[in-house]
This record gives sequence, structure tokens and C-alpha cells, in this order.
Amino acid sequence: MIDFQKLADKYQTPLYVYDFNKMSESFNELKEAFKGRKSLMCFAVKSNSNLSVIKHFASLGAGADCVSIGEVKRAKLAGIEAYKIIFSGVGKRDDEIKEALEIGILYINVESEAELKRVEAIAKQMQIVARISVRVNPNIDPKTHPYISTGLHGNKFGVDLASAKRMYIDAKNSEFLDPIGIHFHIGSQLTDLVPIYEASEIVADLVRSLSALDINLKFFDVGGGLGVKYDDEILIPPYDYAQAILTTLKALDITVIGEPGRFLTANAGYFVTTVLYEKQNDEKRFVIVDGAMNDLLRPSLYKAYHKITTFKDGKTSKADIVGPVCESGDYFAKDCELPKLEHNDLVIVESAGAYGFTMASNYNTRGRSAEVAVEDGEDRLIRKREKFDDLIELEKEFI
Ligand code: LLP
Repeated sequence: MIDFQKLADKYQTPLYVYDFNKMSESFNELKEAFKGRKSLMCFAVKSNSNLSVIKHFASLGAGADCVSIGEVKRAKLAGIEAYKIIFSGVGKRDDEIKEALEIGILYINVESEAELKRVEAIAKQMQIVARISVRVNPNIDPKTHPYISTGLHGNKFGVDLASAKRMYIDAKNSEFLDPIGIHFHIGSQLTDLVPIYEASEIVADLVRSLSALDINLKFFDVGGGLGVKYDDEILIPPYDYAQAILTTLKALDITVIGEPGRFLTANAGYFVTTVLYEKQNDEKRFVIVDGAMNDLLRPSLYKAYHKITTFKDGKTSKADIVGPVCESGDYFAKDCELPKLEHNDLVIVESAGAYGFTMASNYNTRGRSAEVAVEDGEDRLIRKREKFDDLIELEKEFI
């Protein structure tokens, strides 16, 4: 059990706390699910890009799924070998493509025909061969929140099957491209296995038809998306997830790549915030805390539910937990049953390890929180709290 009071006293709040042992457990559980099959789990750095978190996954054998050259460089710096790094994303600048090729990552995940041409042109300039994979949009409804659904033709991601096939043929005919992988990712926080199975089958069929054209892919990249428990969701067991995918691959000799983010980090993270005061009007009770939407945006952006824990007993009543930012959407929980809370009491916002700190901003000139790792009962700072001077550093010379 993590002693949040001790951590709050030591590091102050608002604070992100990550349980590294829990991260290891989730990683090993997923890896185990694909046992007996060549597989590589590439941690989706976007879910939590703290260098120490990435380094932790590197030590467990993970690769990295990156969506900007910044993330690629973080992964490298944290100790992930270049040959385990993949670079996805619907738009990449020329300089990002060039740098990824220079670093020699496993492959660039290409998301359009135009992008394939850019990668080819840049590889030609550099006189090297670029390893690529194509992101296929299988037009499958993943039945998740529309903002995190990505596998429908109405979404901007990937290309349809016919375009993908053309792109593979073009790549095979190019001196400067080596098509080695195929990728799909239909959405995030998935709790229904059927769309995953269907998407996998569509993409596996494409792999087989490419093989008939003598285009033999080595990597079958199933993206991320495994859902986690925020509330009372019924989850897909990792073993069933792996089996659903492996069934579609049948005799194909291909390495499975996963890009898990949330599954590895969400429930290993806690956002710790302190009560400033309470206030009540004729309609509502508000608990005002020192953390805000700039620290953890998910409730404001997606109306996401995060379980709240306090350490007080007593009679409860409904309250909204809100931050100091000047927006009505700045809240962590609505109509949450809470005991009477006082100045300096702690409020823990659970399941905050994925898309928490990474989506934080400096809105309202608020410095971002510190981050702390807890591992084998020991705690350590892994990111300092931002100070006012940090926030003005890049501007102050211009006034
Ligand atoms: N691979 C690709 C290509 C992705 O687009 C994503 C997430 C992942 C892997 C990792 O997905 P995960 O395993 O974490 O579900 N900010 C939103 C989530 C956005 C997800 C974007 N893509 C949230 O807070 O729910």
C-alpha cells in the first residue's frame, strides 16, 4: 500500500505517483499472453513519457511506439534500442523522417500514399533503404469513445485496404523502401474483443494476399488499445486478446508487435491533490483542490470517470471536486459521495498513470506537477515540479 500522506509531505502536491511494480506486472502479463510466439511489446510512449518510466519498460525488454521524433529521442535516451523503436502518426515532418532514418529505428509506420512518397524521397536523398510498415484502416467500429476511436474510414488514421496494397507494391518496386510490417490500431480503451478479432482477420488476409505477390512481411503490428478498469468495465483478459489475434495469423510466420500504453500505465498511476477548501451554494457542494484540468485533462476532455479516494470517514454527501483553473469544465469528479473534507486533506484521483501527465499543460501559468516512482517500497523523484522560472525561460529574453 502506498503511503500517499508521506509522499505528499515529502514532495508536496499536486503530484503524480507511479507504482513501478504494478507496471512490471502488467507488462509481464501481456508478454506472457503472447508466449510461444515471436512478439515485441512496444510501449506507447504517448501514454506516459517520463524517461524513468520508459527506462523501466526498457529494462523489461520493451520496445517503444512513438508518434513524434521527440518521443523517438526520449525512447532512445531512456535505453530502448533503435531496432525496437517504431514511429507512427498521421503526419510527419521531413526533418522527423530524416532523423528517424538516421537513428535507424525498426520502421516508420506510413499512414498515406503521400507520406510513402516523402519517405522514399528522403531515403533517396540519404542513399539508404527505409524500412516501412503501412497503417491499414480496417473500417471497424471499436465501440469506444468517439475521440479515441481510430479504425473507421471517418477517422483520419491509416489507409484503406486497396490503397495499402498499392503502397506495398510501390514500396517493393522502390530501391529505397523495404516494406517489412503492417499495422492497425482501431481505438483505445477497448473492452470488446470482436472488433479486434475482425480487424486482425482483415489485416491478416491482406498479409496473405501480399505474400502471394512475393511481399513477405515480418511484423504484424496490432497497435494498442486494451481497456483498463476505471469504473466497472468488464475487461478483455490479455490471454483472450492474444488468442483472438493469433487465431487470425494461423500458419503465418510473422512477429506480433503490440503497442500497449494505457494497459501498462493507467492503473499504476495516481494523481495526488490537496483540498484547499470546500464551498457550498444553494445548489451544490464543491471541494476545491490544488490540482486542476491542466494537470489531468481526461475528465474535462472526455468526461472520463476516475475513481476518487479520500482518507476521511464520516457521513457523506454529493460534491464536485474542482480545480482552481478558470473554466467550468475544470473538474475531476461530479456528484461524488464524499465525507466532509478540510484544508490539507488529500484527494487521490486513481487510474491517472496513462494520458495524465503527458496531456498536462501550463494553462493559467501553472507549473506542471512533480512525478514520483514507487518501487519495492522505496520512493524516488523522477521529475521535478515546474517552477515559475521554468515557465518563463523561453520568453523572458524578449521583453
Ligand atoms: N498505437 C497507436 C497507433 C495509438 O494511436 C495509440 C493511442 C496507442 C497505440 C496506445 O493506445 P492505448 O494502449 O494506450 O490505448 N488521450 C486519450 C487516449 C488517446 C489514445 C491515442 N492513441 C485518453 O486519455 O483516453
